[in-house]
Amino acid sequence: MESCSVSSFSIFLLVVTLAFHSADARTLVFIFGDSTVDVGTNVFLEGSPGPFCPYGIDYPTNISTGRASNGYTLGDELARRMGYEESPPPYLALVSSSSSFLNGVNFASGGSGIFDSTGWHLTPRPLSLRDQIRQFSTVRDTIIAELGREEAARLLSQALFIVSDGGNDFAEYIRNLTAPIQWPSQFLRDLASTYQVHFQDLYNLGARKFGIVGIPPIGSTPVIKDNLGFLGQYIVNLASQRFYDDTKKFMEDFKLEGMHYSLGNAIAFTNDVIRFPWFYGFREVEKACWNEFNGTYISFSGEEAVGISCRNWNGPLCPNRDQYFFFDPFHPTQRAAELGSEALFHGGTNYAEPINFSGLVSIGIDQNPTQKATPDFGEFPLSGRKTKYLGTY
Ligand SMILES: *[C@@H]1O[C@H](CO)[C@@H](O)[C@H](O)[C@H]1NC(C)=O
Ligand SMILES: *[C@@H]1O[C@H](CO)[C@@H](O)[C@H](O)[C@H]1NC(C)=O
Ligand SMILES: *[C@@H]1O[C@H](CO)[C@@H](O)[C@H](O)[C@H]1NC(C)=O
Ligand SMILES: *[C@@H]1O[C@H](CO)[C@@H](O)[C@H](O)[C@H]1NC(C)=O
Repeated sequence: MESCSVSSFSIFLLVVTLAFHSADARTLVFIFGDSTVDVGTNVFLEGSPGPFCPYGIDYPTNISTGRASNGYTLGDELARRMGYEESPPPYLALVSSSSSFLNGVNFASGGSGIFDSTGWHLTPRPLSLRDQIRQFSTVRDTIIAELGREEAARLLSQALFIVSDGGNDFAEYIRNLTAPIQWPSQFLRDLASTYQVHFQDLYNLGARKFGIVGIPPIGSTPVIKDNLGFLGQYIVNLASQRFYDDTKKFMEDFKLEGMHYSLGNAIAFTNDVIRFPWFYGFREVEKACWNEFNGTYISFSGEEAVGISCRNWNGPLCPNRDQYFFFDPFHPTQRAAELGSEALFHGGTNYAEPINFSGLVSIGIDQNPTQKATPDFGEFPLSGRKTKYLGTY
């Protein structure tokens, strides 16, 4: 797995990456989902132990912020490709400091899922995708109050809505098992139809451009590899692929006026990295860099919400984080997130379909969005209904 050409590839990729940073103009971004894109939401929740090290050890200020990464998460890396320095702050941070929502908002909450129930056993209990959309509806109300309905509709129709979710629903399904895993048909059906409702709800609230990070191959994460046997892993990866295909299908079937989307294929990207790690500059794509995290949040008293310095952290950690794909048994490293975001933004249709994220961002400005939007710009739609899923199993 080792290779002498690793560093030259890294330099090549870095140069390509830096070149792209300045290329995209800044678009308003709203981010939803789980820890893959969370930038510290849970730190603000009741019962949070606060951020802890070694998370954040490679963050620019060497501070733990509640990100599940050694540095930036995918949420940051995607925002960076849109001209942001990092992801916009969590909604709860903006609210508590009365800051504007017009520079983007991150609603994502680690441990949460597409199902409302996912993460029910965690402390603090994370904000489900539905909770996050509910928060977005208050953001939308604020923007309407500030700018008026028409301007707000125009702004939201041009904004990018990034959604990265589903991994914890899989984890919870596996956690709930009382017998060896079998093909989870009912779970997959429910998950897809629930996900679809969330997109419909966002659309009804004025969202028009969706950048969706598809489910990764959950069976390839160290935590699943360590807990399910080879067959279990295989089934979970097949189920991940099925959920990706279902997501693709319902997005294709959404014929909503003025809507555009890009569906990122995290399975294809991760599989390519696992197959050709040297090409991406990785040396270890199976084991996590930090193996101590066992799902229990370790408390650092008195450090809530402000972040703590990881400068003097000296627990067991792999020496070169950039050569690892997984930072902890669940989450990618900053380097993996950086390369993944690059694949979604500028990759071909194998990595993002029907268009890539940069294509989505650059789609023309809608001249007359209020006429296209649903009458009265949509009422708050969270009704708990489920649409009928059209796919076959
Ligand atoms: C897991 O079990 C909990 C508690 O019984 C339940 O609320 C939840 O819906 C289950 N989730 C999945 C994905 O099976
Ligand atoms: C997880 O780690 C914490 C902190 O080190 C420890 O207190 C706890 O017992 C561990 N839990 C399990 C299930 O190993
Ligand atoms: C942060 O501190 C850790 C631990 O001392 C060190 O290994 C790392 O290089 C530091 N990172 C930065 C960006 O200063
Ligand atoms: C990504 O999308 C842009 C804009 O649509 C397109 O020009 C470019 O060719 C795409 N990249 C790849 C590798 O297909």
